[in-house]
Amino acid sequence: MSDIETKANGPVYVTEALIADDIDAYLDQHQHKTMLRFITCGSVDDGKSTLIGRLLYDSKMIFEDQLAALETDSKKVGTQGQEIDFALLVDGLAAEREQGITIDVAYRFFNTEKRKFIVADCPGHEQYTRNMVTGASTADLAVILIDARKGVLVQTRRHSYLCHLIGIKNLVLAVNKMDLVDYDHAVFDSIVKDYTEFARSIGIENFTAMPISGFKGDNITGPSENTPWYKGPSLIEHLETVEVLSSVDVAKPFRLPVQWVNRPNLDFRGFSGLISTGSVKPGDAIRVLPSGKTSTVTRVVTLDGDLDEAVAGQSVTVCFADEIDCSRGDVIATADNPPEAADQFESTIVWLNDEPLHVGRAYWLKLGTQTVSVTVREPKYTVNVNTMEQMAAKTLELNAIGVAELSTDKPIVFESYADNRTLGGFILIDKITNATVAAGMLNFSLRRAQNVHWQAVDISRDAHAGLKNQKPAVLWFTGLSGSGKSTIANLVEKKLHRMNRHTFLLDGDNVRHGLNKDLGFTEADRIENIRRVGEVAKLMTDAGLIVITAFISPFKAEREMVRAMLPEGEFVEVFIDTPLSVAEERDVKGLYKKARAGDLKNFTGIDSPYEAPAKPEIRIDTTKITPDEAANLIVDALLGDA
Ligand code: ADX
Repeated sequence: MSDIETKANGPVYVTEALIADDIDAYLDQHQHKTMLRFITCGSVDDGKSTLIGRLLYDSKMIFEDQLAALETDSKKVGTQGQEIDFALLVDGLAAEREQGITIDVAYRFFNTEKRKFIVADCPGHEQYTRNMVTGASTADLAVILIDARKGVLVQTRRHSYLCHLIGIKNLVLAVNKMDLVDYDHAVFDSIVKDYTEFARSIGIENFTAMPISGFKGDNITGPSENTPWYKGPSLIEHLETVEVLSSVDVAKPFRLPVQWVNRPNLDFRGFSGLISTGSVKPGDAIRVLPSGKTSTVTRVVTLDGDLDEAVAGQSVTVCFADEIDCSRGDVIATADNPPEAADQFESTIVWLNDEPLHVGRAYWLKLGTQTVSVTVREPKYTVNVNTMEQMAAKTLELNAIGVAELSTDKPIVFESYADNRTLGGFILIDKITNATVAAGMLNFSLRRAQNVHWQAVDISRDAHAGLKNQKPAVLWFTGLSGSGKSTIANLVEKKLHRMNRHTFLLDGDNVRHGLNKDLGFTEADRIENIRRVGEVAKLMTDAGLIVITAFISPFKAEREMVRAMLPEGEFVEVFIDTPLSVAEERDVKGLYKKARAGDLKNFTGIDSPYEAPAKPEIRIDTTKITPDEAANLIVDALLGDA
């Protein structure tokens, strides 16, 4: 706690890793005040750091000793005159100073008599869309800084577009450095006119424009004598009075994403989480999604005792009158106006990773407390954030913003992002590296998701396999072209067949003549190739067969995707481990020669990667044993545990 007090008393530098506990503790200290989260957008030259420094200074958040240090620092750096260089206060991060740019989101706390504030300082450079999106996703308001001498720039448009996209309803157009244009009313008016035109074109309905000087302090805490023509509020006045998101959210229908089930003993069972919208009180009729089960709220419990009512933004535990199923990831909602559950969506995605989106690959989608597997289709278009033009695209690269359809492996409870940030905002996580690769917004569900249902069948997969008197499995061969997959797979099938096993061999070259003849060898096509083969193999195991597949299947992610489709133990990865030099030396089909000559593009091992399995169930070194020995080994391994 003492650590927090120091933080709340002075300006703090907390980067993205800002822990929720810190925020909670800070909030506790100023419980009676409402809180406004806002972000500042602009580039170094717009005077952003100076403005934030000024806000902290004017709200008396700087102590004498820090002030003294600042004055010495300012002198060292050689700021003209006696003025304090507020930017020095804020540009505390070493990297910022060295590069002269802000490279990460920094959160700072301050408060005035009326309100407490958390400001996310977001960098302005194009390549840092990522940081800006991070900072903006929880903001009530955005201050868009413009240099009065320069007017509306490409970056102004980009920032405004991103803020609008992320759903920030309150935009402040802060026309800064008014002192450098002699507080000229005409300059201000012409900038506002330009901006209005642009704002309308992208659907921003309203914004508040104000002439300021972060450096001199004009219109920061009160009206400036230098701008008698400006009748609006000062920046602080505006920040203190603008409506905050949580009060808007209280008016919406009740939604509580369940974080955990609280069951300390047999006498108590409650469901805990943060209320995302609406309010709840004992006696309310609720519905648990996606199951649809209903009950009545009996208690609303917090650490400080029971409440008569709780609202959006509060963390609570609710208890029901009935013992209905409800677990982490479920959403508790008002009974007569619940959110939808769906598994196909149109979404807007901001790509945050150096490695581009792999269309068709399975990622984790995390939305509130729900985590599901998801695949993204080819984007419908991407948006050029500088010109707002829509462009055709095959994938999403770092910082790209695109609209694409998603399908999840099971239904998720959601609302469109415009209605509910918690139930409409998601992140995508790479299943292998665990990195957060994208942030996104669900726009709406696709109707086809609701119209396609699973058909219940009476003959189960066990019944199919039982009749064949065998345990279904997929022997998934992977390895370079020419490694010997097809040869060994063929021998394995012959041996199993002789032993009265019902088998089927799916071979790359053959499948590519039929089912997958529309696919080539780009990364996206290979992913789709394996996805389809995986689905077919799965259907065949449902029919009770032992399936043998022989595909290069170069990517770990897709092999893992197929593994995840099948019941535990049914996916047997067989790595035909032949070194590239040996496969190339054999060059059975003459393809390596062509690839080396540049006549065959995207050839695995040459100019397209092969990701070897780390822990295959079976590994065959073809430089040590013959194909026949290899086949015996595989058959033994398979039937050994049957
Ligand atoms: S995979 O990468 O999508 O799994 P798949 O196993 O279906 O590949 O097909 C590989 C076969 O296609 C190779 O054995 C080879 O005969 C042929 N082929 C043609 N072009 C290529 C290429 N660019 N890269 C790899 N294999 C190719």
